[in-house]
Amino acid sequence: MTFDFSGKTAIVTGAASGIGRAIAIGLAKAGAHVVASDVHVDNLLQLKQELMNEQVCIDIQACDVSEQQEVQDMFSHPALAKGLDILIHSAGITFAKHVTETSINEYRSLIETNLSGTFYCLQHAVSRMKEHGASGSIIVVSSINAHRPLPDQAVYSSTKAAIESLAQSLAVEVAPWGIRVNCLAPGAVNTPLLRDAMPPAAELSKKSPGTPIPIGYMGEPEDMVGTAMFLASPLSSYMTGASLVVDGGLLLQR
Ligand SMILES: NC(=O)c1ccc[n+]([C@@H]2O[C@H](COP(=O)([O-])OP(=O)(O)OC[C@H]3O[C@@H](n4cnc5c(N)ncnc54)[C@H](O)[C@@H]3O)[C@@H](O)[C@H]2O)c1
Repeated sequence: MTFDFSGKTAIVTGAASGIGRAIAIGLAKAGAHVVASDVHVDNLLQLKQELMNEQVCIDIQACDVSEQQEVQDMFSHPALAKGLDILIHSAGITFAKHVTETSINEYRSLIETNLSGTFYCLQHAVSRMKEHGASGSIIVVSSINAHRPLPDQAVYSSTKAAIESLAQSLAVEVAPWGIRVNCLAPGAVNTPLLRDAMPPAAELSKKSPGTPIPIGYMGEPEDMVGTAMFLASPLSSYMTGASLVVDGGLLLQR
């Protein structure tokens, strides 16, 4: 199936790596005008160059989503002059640590990036979408941890459960304006975030007989793109406040 996002403008946060990067590429290749944002500008520049080599154009924007002013600046990007149609909010961090070993600074960094960052992005996205009186689709990348927590990820799981709740509440508030808000909840996806937080998980990246993932292998970032595009497109026009789990069946096994 192919999607056509011609004439649509999208912001993708966390677009320098992993899931956000794959979705930014998918949307741009499907015709959307993509503003790819991240804290890692070098990686954004590399993404822009790679796409230019394929005659696909994107804008890039440095933005730390935990900084309210930077989020405000991102949503003032000139590409949004005619409005914003799609937000993919993928920026996020994690680490594996027992609750008793988690420092207050580590706790705060998870809350500020994963929860406050989501709040700032959703607030500004809705304002931009409403300003232009157009409908819009917001997709928040949460996690299966929002549905069933794992040990050593208590704070991370809390932030993901909180952003799912935030997305659901917002979905109710903005539905009358034609704006939809849904979550994409990945399972184990082969990205730097997972490899750094849980090094043994990287071994599941190839098909392996011992994998707990029913589909037989860890997801790749590209495995998230179809669901994100579906949620961004009119095909999901009657869906809001939903969380779509995309995990190869992993949740069923725990
Ligand atoms: N990889 C997985 O298995 C998995 C599973 C469930 C959920 N997720 C979620 O998917 C999202 C994307 O993660 P990923 O696996 O692609 O990881 P990733 O590390 O490959 O990409 C995350 C990106 O977010 C950016 N980022 C981090 N903090 C930021 C900040 N304060 N402001 C702006 N950008 C920031 C990073 O620079 C990076 O480019 C995250 O929200 C993560 O929690 C990932």
